[in-house]
Order: sequence, then C-alpha cells, then structure tokens
Amino acid sequence: MVAVDGPAGSGKSTVSDQVAAALGFVKVNTGALYRCIALAGQRAGLSPDDELEMGAVARRIEIHFDGDRVFLDGEDVSQSIRAPEISSFASISSALGSVRSAILEEQRRLGRQEPGAVLEGRDIGTVVFPDADLKVFLTASPQERARRRHEQLKAQGEHHDLAELLEQIIARDARDRSRSEAPLVQAKDARELVTDGLTIDQVVDLIVSWAQEEQDP
Ligand code: DC
Repeated sequence: MVAVDGPAGSGKSTVSDQVAAALGFVKVNTGALYRCIALAGQRAGLSPDDELEMGAVARRIEIHFDGDRVFLDGEDVSQSIRAPEISSFASISSALGSVRSAILEEQRRLGRQEPGAVLEGRDIGTVVFPDADLKVFLTASPQERARRRHEQLKAQGEHHDLAELLEQIIARDARDRSRSEAPLVQAKDARELVTDGLTIDQVVDLIVSWAQEEQDP
C-alpha cells in the first residue's frame, strides 16, 4: 500500500495514476470522496461548515469509482466535482470531524484492495494508513502549482485568472494546514519529494523505485 499525500496541485493525481499503473495497483483519489460530499452539500443548499448536516450527507450518499469516473448516487459527477467552487466548498467541509469520520472506514477498505493500492490524499500516511508500506509527501511551490492548475483548466476549455488561482491555492493551503481535524502535515516517516523542475516521469520513476525497495528490500 502506497500513500501519496500533499497539497493541491502538487501533481499527486497524475503521479499516483502512473505509479499505480507501473506497479499494477489500483489508484484511489480520496479527494474525490470529499468533493462528492461537497457537491451533495452544495446542491442541498447547506453551509460547508455545518457539522451536523454535512456529516449526515456524508453518511447518506453513495460514492463509487469506475476507472477514472466518479459516481455520486449513480450519477457521473467526474466533471462537476472539479469546479473551483467545489474545491473551496470541499476545503471547508473536509475540515469537519463528522465528514472525516463518515468516510474513514471506506478509505481503509479501498486501500486494502488486491494486489495493492495507491491512495492519494492529505492524511493517508498520518491518519488513514499510519502503517503504509511507503509514504510519499509530494509538494511544489504555490506558484508552480497555480501554473499547473491554470494549464489543466485551460486544457479543459476553462479560463481562470492565474493570480486568482494562486490566491485560492494559498488560501486552501493555509486552511488545510491549520485545521484541527487531520491537518495537512507530513508523516514523520514519509519521504518528501519537491517536484518543481522535475518531469512527471522523473517523479514516477523515483516513487516506483522506492515502492520496489519496500517490497523487496
Ligand atoms: O485533492 P483534492 O484537491 O481533490 O481534495 C479536495 C479537498 O479535500 C481538499 O481541500 C482537501 C480535502 N482532502 C482531505 O481533507 N483529505 C484527503 N485525504 C483528501 C482531500
């Protein structure tokens, strides 16, 4: 089991996909679970910091993955959960203890899939799988992450102001790092990887070699 944690835009998703493919593992994007809960909450007209109601939504909804697609109560929401307003909503609602505890066991179940899983998120190495075989903490500078997000949205035909994206990333980082429930921190035994100036292939090769070392020390 490989845990890949780190802030938004560090390249976690792309890297985790390719690491999972190279190892023949399943990839699980835990952020998508928080985003589905945020989308359901927003649609229900809830406030993202409503501990009671958001917790109830998190326990009620059914989320499943089919390859790269994410389904919320049977509806394909892969695209809608990526909207910037859902990023902001999820950043607030994912700080709620009621929301986090609602999906903790589901994440553990997903992580135990055979022949192995790569779980990407914020607290996989610290809370969900403290005994993961390999923990990677992936980062990049806020400027680099904003630039990547800008490119990603552009490729999807969406145009957002780069300065605004940078501001959102800095605000989300601050929230994710300072919250009392499962803050974004590097696990003591995680390997930190700063990806500024590295290609995706370089990052993937490094993580795959670490994972192979763990399997076959
Ligand atoms: O990785 P992402 O940007 O798709 O995550 C969306 C939000 O969910 C983000 O604000 C952090 C939160 N999250 C979390 O708290 N714990 C996780 N394991 C994954 C994501």
